[in-house]
Amino acid sequence: MSPETTGPAAVIVLAAGAGTRMKSRTPKILHEIGGRSMVGHALLAARAINPLKLALVVRHERDRVAEHITVLDPGALIVDQDDVPGTGRAVEVALNALDADAELSGTVVVTYGDVPLLTGQLLGELVATHEAEGNAVTVLTAVLDDATGYGRILRAEDGTVTGIREHKDASNTERAIREVNSGIYAFDAAVLRTALAKVTTDNAQGEMYLTDVLGLARDAGGRVAAVVTEDRWQVEGANDRIQLSALGAEHNRRIIESWMRAGVTVVDPATTWIDSTVKLDEDVRLLPNTQLHGSTTVARDAVVGPDTTLTDVNVGEGAKVIRTHGSGSTIGAKASVGPFTYLRPGTVLGETGKIGAFYETKNVTIGRGSKLSHLGYAGDAEIGEDTNIGCGNITANYDGEKKHRTVIGSGVRTGSNTVFVAPVTVGDGAYSGAGAVIRKDVPAGALALSLAAQRNAEGWVAANRPGTASAKLAEAAHELATTSTSSQSPATIEEGKQA
Ligand code: UD1
Ligand code: CA
Repeated sequence: MSPETTGPAAVIVLAAGAGTRMKSRTPKILHEIGGRSMVGHALLAARAINPLKLALVVRHERDRVAEHITVLDPGALIVDQDDVPGTGRAVEVALNALDADAELSGTVVVTYGDVPLLTGQLLGELVATHEAEGNAVTVLTAVLDDATGYGRILRAEDGTVTGIREHKDASNTERAIREVNSGIYAFDAAVLRTALAKVTTDNAQGEMYLTDVLGLARDAGGRVAAVVTEDRWQVEGANDRIQLSALGAEHNRRIIESWMRAGVTVVDPATTWIDSTVKLDEDVRLLPNTQLHGSTTVARDAVVGPDTTLTDVNVGEGAKVIRTHGSGSTIGAKASVGPFTYLRPGTVLGETGKIGAFYETKNVTIGRGSKLSHLGYAGDAEIGEDTNIGCGNITANYDGEKKHRTVIGSGVRTGSNTVFVAPVTVGDGAYSGAGAVIRKDVPAGALALSLAAQRNAEGWVAANRPGTASAKLAEAAHELATTSTSSQSPATIEEGKQA
């Protein structure tokens, strides 16, 4: 829909309910599926139809809900429901608030904050039908096998909608009706305002039912109609954690299906989870057990997985990310990460670079073509291009009080088990010996050695560990060396191999 197209006068999202069946200290509508709160999904669907005004009705955990909504959608009007219970009252307080500047006219849409799979597209269809038919009220309905608990759609002989009966108020005949009220409607603002003034709490639950508006509108001569959706998921609410997980799985299934249609290979949709906020290019391949969250993006030809979880990570074109847990990081084109790699926020790996097995990184920029292949930690560091960091290297960035930076140049080769005691700088093209502890800056092109020369105390084991297996093996080796020297042959099998 283009920005010039005007949507309905208002959308009212109902979100005052307590959601007790969730058994949670978190308000129901703040529970998430696909990386977004349920009310976040509701706001997205509402905004998609471009309403002139958007109101949310709150009551339960009002402050927490209001804070969350203000962050997501600062333009939404938050309306407090008073002690009068019921969906009718919720809409009435919202309408009063929306009318405060000037009385609304035109279409007012009502939705719920806990129906996360509803799309802007279906809402748009509801509004289009409502306006095209000139209805007073249009209700979105679905036909269910088990309609227990829902309000039932009452229709006249000619099929026109006459009203809605709540389950608790329904007769046995009415309970046999399988067409149910989704709770999502398009109303004419004036009809809604007039009808709500007549709604009472005279029913089985002692609540102001919004559903009473349909019968009242019809009695007043208005046309009341229904849009029946085949897609029951779009009108399904999450009242407990079982429904929450079912809706989450269906949401995921839909997202994965749409990515597959867009050219992404997903080897195992059942074990792949993708947030609605993730962006993928054509020819991305996702291997089993991959989870992509937040603002993660994956560029063309990259392969992610198996067994990889990425949150807010940008994966470059043709990169490979295997068995990795990463967040807040950038992986360059054709770079490789994993297996068993932990990327913490601020990791930036350059093109064709590598962070290999059992590496942890944090707040480190690694230049193009540089490799940190095995076993180590790189934190608060900057590494140039085409540098090879040897096995088991550590940036000792923490002095117990503060963090310090390590700067390593380009074309550097470090020996295994080098420790960089930050703050420290290693110049371009420098080398370090195995086990070096770098406490002082290393000039470009220098070899840094920091260990004392090796000294062998000959016969130490025989003298200090007599009778042990080591001592016996050492003695045998000496004997063999003596015999074989006399016959001019190698002292050991190893020496023999090297000879
Ligand atoms: C309501 C409908 C029912 C429909 C069903 C679909 C009425 C009277 N009944 O029933 O016909 O089949 O939804 O799920 O409308 N809410 C408020 N303030 C309130 C009460 C509810 O904001 O005082 C909000 C809730 O947070 C929730 C929504 O309205 O998002 C529906 O409330 P709920 O109590 O679940 O309605 P039902 O009784 O299930
Ligand atoms: Ca409900």
